[in-house]
Amino acid sequence: MVLFLISAITTIIIATIMLYQRWWTSNIPPGPKPRFLLGNLHQLKPHWTHSFIEWSQTYGPIISVWIGSQLTIIVSTSDLAKQVLRDKDHQLSNRHRIARMTQSGNDLVWSDYSPHYVKLRKLCTLEIFSLKSIENFRSLREMEARSMVMSILKDLKSDDQTGKPLVVRKYLGAVVLNTISRLMIGKEFESEEGKEFKSIVEKEHLLSGSGTVFDHVWWLKWVSSWIISDKEFLSHKDRRTKWFRGAIMEEEDVAVEDHAGFVRKLLVLKEKNELSEETVHGLIWNMFTAGADTTAVVIEWAMAEMIKCPIVQEIVQQELDSVVGSERLMTESDIPKLPYLQCVVKEALRLHPSTPLMLPHKASETVWVGGYKIPKGASVYVHVKEIGRDPANWINPLEFRPERFLLEETDVKGRDYRILPFGSGRRVCPAAQLSMNLMTLVMGNMLQCFSWSSPIPGERIDMSENPGLLCSMRTPLQALASPRPVTRVITPLTLD
Ligand code: HEM
Repeated sequence: MVLFLISAITTIIIATIMLYQRWWTSNIPPGPKPRFLLGNLHQLKPHWTHSFIEWSQTYGPIISVWIGSQLTIIVSTSDLAKQVLRDKDHQLSNRHRIARMTQSGNDLVWSDYSPHYVKLRKLCTLEIFSLKSIENFRSLREMEARSMVMSILKDLKSDDQTGKPLVVRKYLGAVVLNTISRLMIGKEFESEEGKEFKSIVEKEHLLSGSGTVFDHVWWLKWVSSWIISDKEFLSHKDRRTKWFRGAIMEEEDVAVEDHAGFVRKLLVLKEKNELSEETVHGLIWNMFTAGADTTAVVIEWAMAEMIKCPIVQEIVQQELDSVVGSERLMTESDIPKLPYLQCVVKEALRLHPSTPLMLPHKASETVWVGGYKIPKGASVYVHVKEIGRDPANWINPLEFRPERFLLEETDVKGRDYRILPFGSGRRVCPAAQLSMNLMTLVMGNMLQCFSWSSPIPGERIDMSENPGLLCSMRTPLQALASPRPVTRVITPLTLD
C-alpha cells in the first residue's frame, strides 16, 4: 500500500512537471532540437554567433536555443529588435546573470530593472554621461588624444622601433583607459596600476569564460566550481579589492574630499548610507570594463578597414586637411564640420559592433514577440551584428563604405533599428554619446597625424574575430605609421 502511494505520488509529480514544461515551452520560437539536459550546448560553435546565423537560416529570424537548461531566444531582424527593445522593453529589461562575477547584480550593468537600477542609472546619467558633463570633460579627452599622438611619435623615434610596425591596440587601449580613469577618479593610472587592471580584467574574462558552459547545466554546475575553485575565485576577488584600494580609493581612511571625479560623489553617497560599498565598487568596475575595450576595439577595426581600403583613409585625410589644416591638432569642436570622418565611425560600428549580441536581457514576464511566446525567465539576445549586415537594410552590406551614411542622416544611438551598436530602449548604453565623441576624436587625430599602411604591402590583414561577448580582432592589428606635416607643431596640452 505504502509502495503504491509513493509510486502514485511520484508519477503525479513527474506528470505535473512534464505538463508544466510542455505548457511553458508551447509556442516558443522554432530552433534546433535540444538534447535531454544538455540542450543545444553540444552543437554550439566557439563563436556562438556563427551557430545562431546558421540556425536562423534554417528556422527563421527568431529562434530558440537551449543553452543547457536555459531557454535563450535570439532575434536577428530590425523589426524583431524593435519589438524586443521598444514595444516589449518593459518586460524584457532584466539581465541574465551567469558568471559568478556578475551574480549579485548590485551594480548597474548586471542589475535587474528595479528601483535600485533606476537610481544608479539616474546617478550615472546625471554625473558622467549628461551632455553638460561630456562638454565639461572635453579638454580632458583632447589632452589624452594628444598624449596618444605624442606616444606614437616617441615610439617611432626610438632606435629599436625604426622601420618596425606598431601594435595599434597598445595606443588605443591606453587612450581610452586613461580617459575613463580621469573621468572616474580624476587621474591616470600609474603604469603599474594600469598593467594590474588589464591583468585583472583578463583573468576575469578567463574565470567567467572557463566555467560558463557548465554554469548553464544545473546538474553540471559542480564542474564549474571544480574548474574554478571557490578558493581561486575568492583570491581573484581579493586581488580586485586590493587593486581598488590602491588605485581608486588610495587608502581606506583618506577623507572623501581628497578624492576626485565620480568616485567622490559615490563616496559621499556611501557615507550617507545611500549606496553600499559593493555597489560603489561595482559601479566603478562597470565603467572601466564596459567602457575601455568596447571603445578601443571599434577603432582598431576601423583602422584595419582603412588600411585594407586606403582610399577611405585618403578621403578622411583630405577632409581633415581642408577643415583643420596642418597648423593645429583636430579637436572635438571640429567634429560637426567633418561629415566623412563621422561616417567612418558609423560604418565601423555597423560592421563591427563591439558586442555583437549586446548584453543578455531576460524576460520578467511572459510576452509575445513576432507571433511567438517568450516565457518568463527566458534570456533574450538581439543579434545586432547580423542586423547591421542584413541585405534587407543595407546595399552591399559586407563592404566598408562610409559614404552610405552621407546619403541619409542615420542615428546610431538607438533610434534606428537597422544599426544598434549601443542597443536601444531602457538598457541602451548610457555612454553612447561620450564614446562617439571619443572614437571620432581619436580616429581623427590618428589620421591627421599619420598615414597608416600594412607592414607587408599586399598581405591580407587577418580580419577574423575572437569568440566571446566582446568582438575584438583575433590578431592584433600591426601597422606602419608615417608622420604627416601637422606632427611638427604638436606639443603637450595641459588642463586649465
Ligand atoms: C564603442 C563603445 C561602446 C559600445 C559599442 C557599447 C555598447 C553597449 C551595449 C550594446 C550595451 C548593452 C545594451 C543593452 O543591454 O541593451 C552597453 C551597456 C553599457 N555600457 Fe556601453 N558601449 C560602449 C562604450 C561604453 C563606455 C565608454 C562606457 C562607460 C564609460 C559604457 C558603459 C556602459 C554601461 C554602464 C552599460 C550598462 C547599461 C545598463 O545595463 O543599463 N559603454 N554598452
